[in-house]
Amino acid sequence: MTNTSVGWGIPIGKTRYNRTVYHNINKIPHAKVAGATGSGKTEFLKYLVTYMCMRYSPNQVEFIIVDLKNGVSFAPFKWFPHVRGIFKTVREAMEAIEAAHKTMVDRLIEVERLRAVFRKEPVYPRLIVLIDEGGELAPAYAITEQDKAMRKTALDFLASVARIGREPRVNIIYGTQRPDADTLPVAIRGQLEGVFCFRTENELDSKIVLRHEGAEKLRWIPGRYLYKSPLVKHDIEIQSPYVPQKVLRRLIEPLIPVNTFYDIPRDEVRFKDEQMDPGDDGIGLDNVIRIGDWGR
Ligand SMILES: Nc1ncnc2c1ncn2[C@@H]1O[C@H](COP(=O)(O)OP(=O)(O)O)[C@@H](O)[C@H]1O
Ligand SMILES: [Mg+2]
Repeated sequence: MTNTSVGWGIPIGKTRYNRTVYHNINKIPHAKVAGATGSGKTEFLKYLVTYMCMRYSPNQVEFIIVDLKNGVSFAPFKWFPHVRGIFKTVREAMEAIEAAHKTMVDRLIEVERLRAVFRKEPVYPRLIVLIDEGGELAPAYAITEQDKAMRKTALDFLASVARIGREPRVNIIYGTQRPDADTLPVAIRGQLEGVFCFRTENELDSKIVLRHEGAEKLRWIPGRYLYKSPLVKHDIEIQSPYVPQKVLRRLIEPLIPVNTFYDIPRDEVRFKDEQMDPGDDGIGLDNVIRIGDWGR
């Protein structure tokens, strides 16, 4: 199957009327995921990676994962062949975003060449730069001048990808608590058109994310969020899917080569089992798309 015939609607959860909502990442290439600590951002990002790695081949989707808080949440994902790497420090983040930018520029040059010579369009895997705790990249948090320079460089490359990544299929999914002007330059923020706003601390944070209040009034249920998209008139209240740890482990374990000498600490690939329903043994896509109950 070629990329052009692939559907890009990603199920992102359910409404109170039990309707599944889809986010089309082809139409809305860049998105932000915001909300207070504990509101469900990381679980949602992990779900997105899992879902796409199960649904698409590495020829269709690739990931660069930047996790600036600890890197542990995403450690198991390194085994998916779609994942180019998991980057945990400011320096690593800068280099990874620079590499994504280079991919984008190379593709743009290649497209021009192929168009001129063969009159045809190349199809590239979608490269998704997925960032958790992106606020940690803020130049304001820099300790040294060198550190500050790296952060600025990272954000400059990110801004360039945000501006021109659509055609060459280099996309951004940016997670942070509150994407204010200090942490996320307006040039980037304006391009992140898909908005997943989980419960915020207060009204002001809701306004920063959604440009109106409301996210501070969401019920305090992890995974509950407001979805805003240029394709939908009103924000939709959604309960996010999540991947139980045990399901994730069973999806990933077969991908780990036998006799692998783990170059990540063993305890990083161990999982908590608490989220698995008893007696639930299947690991098909239905299980991956575990859409949380609306109520509770
Ligand atoms: N969609 C969800 N359904 C059920 N529980 C969830 C969901 N999302 C998150 N949780 C629970 O809430 C906790 C905090 O979520 P997390 O994604 O780490 O929040 P954040 O990254 O916003 O700080 C998780 O450990 C998980 O137990
Ligand atoms: Mg988190």
